[in-house]
Amino acid sequence: MQNKIGIFDSGIGGITTYKEIKTLLPNESFIYYADTKNNPYGSKSKEELQQITKKIVQYFIKRNVKIIIIACNTATTNCIDYLRHEFKDITFIGTEPAIKVACDNNYKNILILATPTTINSERTHELIERNKKEYENCYLVACDGLAHAIEINDQNKIDELLNKYLTPYKSKNIDAIVLGCTHYPLIRYKIQSFFKNATLIDGNKGVANMVKKQLIVNNLLNKNNKITIEFIQTKKS
Ligand code: DGL
Repeated sequence: MQNKIGIFDSGIGGITTYKEIKTLLPNESFIYYADTKNNPYGSKSKEELQQITKKIVQYFIKRNVKIIIIACNTATTNCIDYLRHEFKDITFIGTEPAIKVACDNNYKNILILATPTTINSERTHELIERNKKEYENCYLVACDGLAHAIEINDQNKIDELLNKYLTPYKSKNIDAIVLGCTHYPLIRYKIQSFFKNATLIDGNKGVANMVKKQLIVNNLLNKNNKITIEFIQTKKS
């Protein structure tokens, strides 16, 4: 099957997810859709995000993609149920805060970093509730503005925001940090410098495994030697 994999984010964050998938599935072709025009997603309402992501899915359908990866925690936690309902024939794989991975690895004092819209989503609270027997403390930090600062590569702003959001937790014996936004692995080393002994966890490997499984089960792996990677970016007017 020659059709491509469609993958999108509000910008460059989803590249961290794309890299994992590409490593696991080197023979696949991709269309990466960076929705820079609507960045940041993390301060938008669920309704706005549903309309934005619906348009992206319609675009991918026109391009005949075989599967759609939502390489964005904000869009996944707020829109995946809606999109699955609107587009029943499409297979969607989402990215959500890897709280379960942290709990499965027996971490007890977990810090979850994500955008405000992800932190406030029902889905994130459901994940926390579902795993509550496993951890001792789970701290939720809405890192307003951080993904956007990463997107525009504003290093001073990134440092200022990390100081503001992370310093209050330095005394809390944090042993795992869930990177609940696909932009955050891009500044991994900066986050790690606040918590030298903590393990940083993101959901990207899990997403890549899931994509592979779905392609195998549905007999959709690329059998052709021709591989193309297309990068599409919407721009602010
Ligand atoms: N990278 C996205 C996420 O995983 C969204 C960042 C944003 O646009 O606010 O949540």
